[in-house]
Amino acid sequence: MSAPRTAGLPGPAPSVEAIRLQLRSWPEVEQSLQHCRGVIVPLGSTEQHGPTGAIGTDALTAEAVALEVGRRTGVLVTPAQAFGMAEHHLGFAGTVSLQPSTLLAVLHDVVLSLAGHGFERIFVINGHGGNIATARAAFAQAYGTAAARGLPGAAALRCRLANWFTAASVTQEARRLYADREGHHATPSEIALTLHLEPSLVAKQRPLPEAAPAGPIHGPEDFRRRHPDGRMGSDPFLAQPEHGERFLELAATALAADLTAFLSETDPAQAGT
Ligand code: NI
Repeated sequence: MSAPRTAGLPGPAPSVEAIRLQLRSWPEVEQSLQHCRGVIVPLGSTEQHGPTGAIGTDALTAEAVALEVGRRTGVLVTPAQAFGMAEHHLGFAGTVSLQPSTLLAVLHDVVLSLAGHGFERIFVINGHGGNIATARAAFAQAYGTAAARGLPGAAALRCRLANWFTAASVTQEARRLYADREGHHATPSEIALTLHLEPSLVAKQRPLPEAAPAGPIHGPEDFRRRHPDGRMGSDPFLAQPEHGERFLELAATALAADLTAFLSETDPAQAGT
């Protein structure tokens, strides 16, 4: 009888480079799988963020939070999936969207690739609300495929969606700083994080007129009609780079704790055997 098996937790990495999958060789990945079967996948979107926000906001923020969580925990971070489900933003120049079925297929294949190597805990750090439903559907489909293919780790495979912008500490800080001017899209909290990450974006900041309030989301034409400048109830001019640094700290702390708990869950299929 052995102790219940967990997915392992390496501990803080010596540098951010050490946890970037893109910079590892395959023997290094094979070696790291001996100690940790967890992996972080940043998931963003490439979509309009109002008249002053960066198109890459959701991808930049998800990747930055993911790399910081990886640095703190020592868990490998894959390249960011920078295209997400942003169909309703296609009425604005620069938006690049995957249809829900396409994103589902992409995430399904990412999970299956990782699971095939022995990764058993897939921690998706997400920066875009529009990805949530599709990501959950992809996980459900991936579990079925892993079992149908008879992957050795199928029974132990777990996927988790962690939205950095809904962490309790993040939403509390956003409310404290911006109250109801946080809004629902092109929010000052996410814009603040981009200003911290990419100082060149600060020059784009300017006062904006009152944003249209949040409402139901239908197709791209309807979205543009209801939200002519792309914002939903937000005032991104309130964003400051220092706020962004704070949001990164809060999000990384919350998600590192969430990931640690996720990796510490024992595998019922192995426990007590
Ligand atoms: Ni966003």
